[in-house]
Amino acid sequence: MAEDLWAALAGPFVEDAYRSVKGYVRTVVLHRHLQRHLPRPPAAVLDVGGGAGHQSLPLARAGYDVTILDPSAAMLAKARARISAEPEDVQARVRLIEAPGERADEATGGRRFAAVLCHGVLMYLSDPEPVVAALCRSADHGGIVSVLALNARTLAIRPALERRWDDALAAFDATSETGVLGTDTRGDTVEGLSVLLGRHGAEPQAWYGGWLFADWLDLPPETTDLAAAARVEFEASVRDPYRQLSRVFHLIARRPADPEGTLRTARLVLAPMPLELMRAVVAEDRSTVARLLGAGFPDEWGADEWFWLPRWLSEVDRDPTLLPWGPHLLLQMGQDGSRTVVGEAGFHGRPDPDGVAEFGYMTVREHRRRGYAEEAVRALLGWGQRQEGVRTFRATVDPANDASIGLLRKLAFAQVGRRIHPERGEELVFERAASQAR
Ligand SMILES: C[S@@+](CC[C@H](N)C(=O)[O-])C[C@H]1O[C@@H](n2cnc3c(N)ncnc32)[C@H](O)[C@@H]1O
Repeated sequence: MAEDLWAALAGPFVEDAYRSVKGYVRTVVLHRHLQRHLPRPPAAVLDVGGGAGHQSLPLARAGYDVTILDPSAAMLAKARARISAEPEDVQARVRLIEAPGERADEATGGRRFAAVLCHGVLMYLSDPEPVVAALCRSADHGGIVSVLALNARTLAIRPALERRWDDALAAFDATSETGVLGTDTRGDTVEGLSVLLGRHGAEPQAWYGGWLFADWLDLPPETTDLAAAARVEFEASVRDPYRQLSRVFHLIARRPADPEGTLRTARLVLAPMPLELMRAVVAEDRSTVARLLGAGFPDEWGADEWFWLPRWLSEVDRDPTLLPWGPHLLLQMGQDGSRTVVGEAGFHGRPDPDGVAEFGYMTVREHRRRGYAEEAVRALLGWGQRQEGVRTFRATVDPANDASIGLLRKLAFAQVGRRIHPERGEELVFERAASQAR
């Protein structure tokens, strides 16, 4: 960042805002809601605009794997100081990245997170969409996006309570104001932000209010029953009309779970290749492939390995329901949300009129001899058995590929012939009845 706009605000925000009753209430209420939507630890959490880590450090203490991303070096320095006071195991679960939210997915190397938080950030951005898009890209399938935004519908309350009547009148139709930190802040609406999240692939699930009475009243921490105040705010945050009057709102959206045809095994996700990804592979556009995949594409995979993809792509272009019958990338998922491509496996289309479903697979060289191909092929055949019209499984192999022949025999395949493939040369043909359990 050329200029750290948050350097001057880091002190007031961290020292004052979080020490106030409002800071306490915000954290308690927000976390109670968040916990209901989060998967169990050690799921990976990305806190975009995470500042000094007030929202995500409690999650690291609870066992989550936390990445705090923020463009402000000053805010991250505060985060670093707070983290250093934590026990070693908590410290080890937190990572800091200096980058703007708009580039969250690139800056985290395309990792996908079980939860992506963005609390109290959108209000400082003139256009929220680039960050919202990056939040959605960073969330894994089935993962949540949790946003805390300024409520544009209640901007008249504060000036009215301060008896600034002209300002209050103007605020009814305003979309921004000067916020508590003295900066311009922009309001959002639950409906507007829901549309934006939906446009980028995350479906709104629930929304809650944040700060109602704690925003209206002057509450000195020394004389306030904090727990009781938080209980009242929590009740107000879940019911109308109170939550609608809140100063900020908390919206939770979720990316849909796995696309159709996705298969999961103990160590792998078999992810059907979407059209966009296939196009990028055919075009040998490696940077787009990596961006879409959220993982590096194996160096050894060039046009030779994918010579059959253009034809498959044109078939799927005509009939997208074919996708689950095509190539799946074998992704090995790290506990930290990282994805490694270890191979590919899939059918070569729907079964032919005789009920023969042909399939193929390949494992990336450095990931061979670990049983990935067997794990993937077993999952693929299990899926094939459940599909209508499949009577026989067929695979063809290079006669010199002992490992592949060994795997097919292990899975009860028998050689039924030989054939000459126009591109690959001589191949052995193996078949097995689909109904045969193995
Ligand atoms: C009010 S603080 C909120 C910090 C934290 N999310 C919390 O709730 O405690 C706003 C944070 O947004 C960060 N920020 C500003 N512009 C941003 C951007 N374009 N992308 C991501 N974060 C940004 C600031 O550096 C600051 O840390």
